[in-house]
Amino acid sequence: MLLYETIATGLRRQIAQGTLRAGERLPSVRQLAQAHQISPATAVQACLQLEREGLVQARPRSGYFVHAAPSVAPRASAPRRRAPGMVSNPALQELLELPERPGLLPLHAAVADPSLLPHAALSAALARSLRRRPTAAFDYAPPQGDPALRRQVALRCEQIGTPMTADEVVVTAGAMEAISLALRTVTAPGDVVLVETPTYYGILQAVAALRLKVLEVPSRLGDGIDVARLDRLLQQTPVRAAVLVPNFSNPTGGLTSDADKQAIVESCARHGTVVIEDDIYGELAWSGQRPLPLRHWDTTGNVITCGSFSKTLAPGLRVGWLAGAGWTEALTRAKYFSSCSSASLPQLAVADYLTRHGLERHLRKLRRTVADNGQRMRDAIARHWPDGTRCSAPSGGLSLWLQLPPGGDGQALFEAALAENIGISPGTLFSSRGDYGDCVRLSCGLPWDARLDAALRRLGALASAQL
Ligand SMILES: Cc1ncc(COP(=O)(O)O)c(C=O)c1O
Repeated sequence: MLLYETIATGLRRQIAQGTLRAGERLPSVRQLAQAHQISPATAVQACLQLEREGLVQARPRSGYFVHAAPSVAPRASAPRRRAPGMVSNPALQELLELPERPGLLPLHAAVADPSLLPHAALSAALARSLRRRPTAAFDYAPPQGDPALRRQVALRCEQIGTPMTADEVVVTAGAMEAISLALRTVTAPGDVVLVETPTYYGILQAVAALRLKVLEVPSRLGDGIDVARLDRLLQQTPVRAAVLVPNFSNPTGGLTSDADKQAIVESCARHGTVVIEDDIYGELAWSGQRPLPLRHWDTTGNVITCGSFSKTLAPGLRVGWLAGAGWTEALTRAKYFSSCSSASLPQLAVADYLTRHGLERHLRKLRRTVADNGQRMRDAIARHWPDGTRCSAPSGGLSLWLQLPPGGDGQALFEAALAENIGISPGTLFSSRGDYGDCVRLSCGLPWDARLDAALRRLGALASAQL
């Protein structure tokens, strides 16, 4: 890690933990330089980095100030699972029905607004693929996936500095199927699987469907996975697999540091725990600095990486992938006996799109817009939600995680919001046992506009009315 990044990480942590509070001034450049024995230029670089991430604001001749939004200390009462147990969370049905509600403001869905996705270029790619490859478009694709798409996935991984070959990529119907196939391949019913808490409800439901038990490791708001706790848990209990989201975890937005990622990979290898990493948000670093996947530190072939184009190109195309060197044959078999192969036309079109355009240009705009929106939402929450509301300060991904003040109830807020056609996600969804009753998750994938502003005011009023 470069020196200025180390300083920025420290300041980011202080903001996330509330040590540096909204509106407060950062230490001056001179103070930073003296305290860390660095040059003033390096201190300025660290501040600029935080400014790019929207965490601080420069004020002429006054210095850098923490943005006027609430920050969150890690929950003192983070639920601890004492022993591995089954997932028991019935809250999902309501969520399945939300996409069909006309006129709903979809703050419940961690996706980028359609206006931020390259629909025109993807439509052209679909039309071109159909025109040029009609036979392939209407036939079964190979079970492992379209070779050109697999090459593009491997190429992208190489571009970010982590070797991958097209031979190990298996195309799936999104990251969701990738996670399910990986779990099916490496576990047997009754095995124990480690997950983060809170974590994406899809992971919990995949684990539940396979009759696996979960053990939970805290996902911290600023720093991601608690590696010391992970190591202790693995020492105490035989754990077959760990399903982890180290880059901008959903819902906390936590980003695990490179050093902790390496420690996680080593700890899991030492304890015979297969790592299933879900890197679906890795491309959405708001600063543009793409964090590395766990795979980067895998020297023993113990990591299966899952990815997807749902958050970057189009969720409806259902194109995702997984890669795990030693398991390619088993994963391909699992894919074949799950759905034969993924739909051909979306695969051809995504390969065509990536070959022509790559991802980087489109991502630059997407990341900037989501970062800007995330910051505006945090500011609006600071203004309109009740005092004591805590909000995460992520540096990537598509989610804000909020804890309501004492007396607040995420499920009741979800229901009150739905009555006004605003979709939000109640916190309990993200727990294996219905913890986080006082939390909600909001998507920050919608561009800022008057409707969103009004919705955040209204949600703030509804939350205040509960207290
Ligand atoms: C962490 C995480 N993993 C997987 C998924 C599912 O992604 P896909 O649409 O690619 O199946 C999501 C969707 O929200 C997610 O947040």
